[in-house]
Amino acid sequence: MPIQEDVRIAPSILGADFLRLGDELAAISNADFIHYDVMDGHFVPNLSFGLDILSQVASATDVPVDAHLMIANPDTDAVRYAKAGASMVTFHMEATNHAHRVLYAIKDAGAQAGVVLNPATPVIALDAIIEHVDMVLLMSVNPGYGGQKFIDTTCRKLRQLSALCFERGVNPLIEVDGGITADNVEEVVAAGANVIVAGSAVFRNPDHAAAVEELRALGRKGMARGL
Ligand code: DX5
Ligand code: ZN
Repeated sequence: MPIQEDVRIAPSILGADFLRLGDELAAISNADFIHYDVMDGHFVPNLSFGLDILSQVASATDVPVDAHLMIANPDTDAVRYAKAGASMVTFHMEATNHAHRVLYAIKDAGAQAGVVLNPATPVIALDAIIEHVDMVLLMSVNPGYGGQKFIDTTCRKLRQLSALCFERGVNPLIEVDGGITADNVEEVVAAGANVIVAGSAVFRNPDHAAAVEELRALGRKGMARGL
């Protein structure tokens, strides 16, 4: 298993009350990342928010912003999210033929860079890129909407990814996104995840900070099991 320092919790503000976004951000100041879901209506059948709101979010919080780009053109647009204030930018492997180029453009702009796999994309898609990423995000739902059901085969993929990282001697962050709740977070961390995205599980709880702490505590139990 790769060395895992701690479980990081990344609330997805797709689940937030947008009319009170400043308050919602303040309420999750105990999070490790703000997960910022960019949907372009092409790569996924939904629209969310883009560069301008990202700049405002990044300047309204001390928590680093993790921009998850569900966009059809990461080749041209990923670097713009790094420049707009994201600390981490991830793009989908399904959306580019030039993954190394996109990764290095993001890093040159001063952000960390990662790649995302949809549920049906196998881990072997990372074969040529794994040494170059700061983070891998495995989707545990088909992207496009919050509040979907966790796809169970994700845990097998997490174990395959952990094995690939061990074999190559690399230790990227391993993020999982979609349908994570207090009921399955322990299992996904035990399988190798160390960055947990949670939209509904954080924002449907009126005490968002308490929801973050609960997920972190349960995730730590999974980490103790997985080591
Ligand atoms: C799905 C997004 C997720 C989503 C997570 O397309 O990438 O980040 O908002 O929301 P929950 O935790 O509700 O599945
Ligand atoms: Zn996401």
